[in-house]
Amino acid sequence: MSFLADSEVVTRALAAYCQESVAGQGRVINQEPLEQIIEKLDLNRYARDGGLTGPELAAFLDRYLTFTTRLHHPAYMAHQVAVPCPTAALGSLIDGLTNNAMAIYEMGPGAASIEFWVLNWMLQKVGWQPAAFDRQKRARDPSYAGGVLTHGGSLANLTAMLAARHRAVPDVWAHGIPQNLVLLAPAGAHYSIARAAGILGLGQNAVRHLEVDALGRIIPEKLALTYDRIRQEDKRPMALVASACSTAVGIYDPLEEIGEFCRQQHLWLHVDGAHGASALLSPKHQYRLKGIELADSLTWDAHKMLQTPVLCAALLVRDHRTLDQTFEQDASYLFHDKERPGVDFAHRTIECTKAGLGLKFFMVLGALGEAGLGAFVERQYELAEQAYEYIQRQPGFECAVQPQSNILCFRRAGDDDLQLRIRDRLNAQGSFYLSSTFFGGKRYLRMALMNPHTRLEDIQKLLVTIQSM
Ligand SMILES: Cc1ncc(COP(=O)(O)O)c(C=O)c1O
Repeated sequence: MSFLADSEVVTRALAAYCQESVAGQGRVINQEPLEQIIEKLDLNRYARDGGLTGPELAAFLDRYLTFTTRLHHPAYMAHQVAVPCPTAALGSLIDGLTNNAMAIYEMGPGAASIEFWVLNWMLQKVGWQPAAFDRQKRARDPSYAGGVLTHGGSLANLTAMLAARHRAVPDVWAHGIPQNLVLLAPAGAHYSIARAAGILGLGQNAVRHLEVDALGRIIPEKLALTYDRIRQEDKRPMALVASACSTAVGIYDPLEEIGEFCRQQHLWLHVDGAHGASALLSPKHQYRLKGIELADSLTWDAHKMLQTPVLCAALLVRDHRTLDQTFEQDASYLFHDKERPGVDFAHRTIECTKAGLGLKFFMVLGALGEAGLGAFVERQYELAEQAYEYIQRQPGFECAVQPQSNILCFRRAGDDDLQLRIRDRLNAQGSFYLSSTFFGGKRYLRMALMNPHTRLEDIQKLLVTIQSM
């Protein structure tokens, strides 16, 4: 078994796979039943006999790749999962082999330094003060922002809610939560927010829904009334969650007005920018996040719009101390005083063993450059706008809202079941892969245009395919 020879087998197969996918060859989705896949991959035999190397490895990978969902295929329009820049996959390989679980600096100084750098790069984009290198300086100065990379936006959102809870109830770690804490969020907030309320022990009913307009955006003028009403019930709002942008239809909340309200009330503002914070890289679209600097925390996923393989998400906080205080706890084998020329992230995260998540993203940034990534985000947002204009002109089709990002929801004239049937048939044919969502009381087909290889012609072909069904 030679690592070098086997890596060549793998990289050759992946390069061919990418080339075919980009050219639109192969099925974009191929969902055979689980038992059949297990059998066709011969999992039991390999587990019993070993030998997955050389020509066996090549044959296995060949079969395995036929059961993948081809994200690089231009007809992949379904979910907000990045179509990874191939260079970033090499980052995954490096991480896999070095396995530097870097929650404490000594377990991966290179990975920890990259995470620190990536967080500072993101903080600068938000308009917050990047953290100083020097630990003593950081500890003294509250003006530094900070953050941590997490395994996904859901975990980043949960971490943000923990930080907000800690600010509202500083002794929560010792005594638990008071029963009257609530969270304010629009009904369209990502489900990880309600889940966080459940995990925190607040219960999902503690998520109080804010009034929204027809696009699902929080109405800032209504905030004071809602807030006062909740206070009169003797409830204590611990945070307000805004979306940038929303999951279902990709619409941005008005962050500046919301931020000003939260500042007046000393209320923690968390912006869930898992998908849409990447618009900060586009000079043309960054205005959609105007006011972001007023937030206390921000979730920003690199594995959505930044061409980074799963998982790489950031939780950023305006005041770095808020995150450190959230997890003040003893674990003597990790948290004893020691000399370290870097930073330990273990103090800032739910996780103990933590993968070095920064390298994969850094490989994209290093390959495309900041301007290249910004141009990519802009291209995808413009494509959604062009698709919207095209679909609106087609008889028998309508869009849910004019897009503000690269998410576009549309439906064919007919009932909700028809939309689901269309999606099922496209999936079964393996010709196009869409998702679907419920918005404003109706079921829509949903495109998340993540793929730099998808063109307007592909969307036109999709509509012709749907029309012919
Ligand atoms: C707005 C928003 N927040 C959070 C998440 C969850 O992120 P993850 O899938 O990385 O856990 C999503 C996922 O689609 C999202 O759209």
